[in-house]
Amino acid sequence: MSPALLKLEGVQTCYGPIEALKGISLEVKEGEIVALIGANGAGKSTALMTISGVLAPRRGRIDFLGENITGLPAHEIVGRGISQVPEGRRIFPRLTVLENLEMGAFLRRDRRVIEADRAAVFEQFPILKERSSQLGGTLSGGEQQMLAIGRAMMARPRLLLLDEPSLGLAPIVVSRIFEIIRTINRFGKTILLVEQNARAALTLAHRGYVMETGRIVMADEARALLSNPRVREAYLGEG
Ligand SMILES: Nc1ncnc2c1ncn2[C@@H]1O[C@H](COP(=O)(O)OP(=O)(O)OP(=O)(O)O)[C@@H](O)[C@H]1O
Ligand SMILES: [Mg+2]
Repeated sequence: MSPALLKLEGVQTCYGPIEALKGISLEVKEGEIVALIGANGAGKSTALMTISGVLAPRRGRIDFLGENITGLPAHEIVGRGISQVPEGRRIFPRLTVLENLEMGAFLRRDRRVIEADRAAVFEQFPILKERSSQLGGTLSGGEQQMLAIGRAMMARPRLLLLDEPSLGLAPIVVSRIFEIIRTINRFGKTILLVEQNARAALTLAHRGYVMETGRIVMADEARALLSNPRVREAYLGEG
């Protein structure tokens, strides 16, 4: 078994008196797509924001590449190789597409490699190249999601955290985004994917975790979760 790239142990995160993560443990191995599914308010975004250092856990431990990163500030965590695509995309609406991509590389000094990465993003998302001088805020929802993913890729992450990439997009655009995630993974990127679209996420992922009110209640191969009666009833709209 390959060692974990990311490992959470007993992570508790609170918003004041509200305990949003009640001690969660999970692992992501190199090369995997891991899906984190659960209802509204289960704590999925809180989990991603705790991993990316936007929120500091009150208890527990987070290891990345074999090092303890618990409580490090967000920019240091980006520097170590974790990039987050936040829920709602959060691109910079008044910056151009190109400037948005540049922001993703703001911690890097390796100019030449940055240019190569930008070329790779444009190859992956030809529409972003076409629109490179257009303001981010004028892009469609699907294009903004591509820009948010492209921006995260510009940090050259070892691990990509995606929070609800399909949210609010038309079905055809959703399938395009999931196709892109699959391709990015085939090229070797490890991905932790948060989705309410549980069926699509588990179809794409290798393994999955199910969260309920701040706890992980199930963990299994994605295929096994897809055929699990409890998952089918609660998250796949069956039974
Ligand atoms: N800034 C905040 N202040 C107080 N409580 C918060 C804050 N953000 C989230 N919460 C609470 O923490 C819990 C987990 O929220 P979180 O956003 O992580 O859920 P989620 O699984 O991502 O939900 P969704 O599917 O709706 O995005 C919820 O009960 C929520 O109300
Ligand atoms: Mg969320």
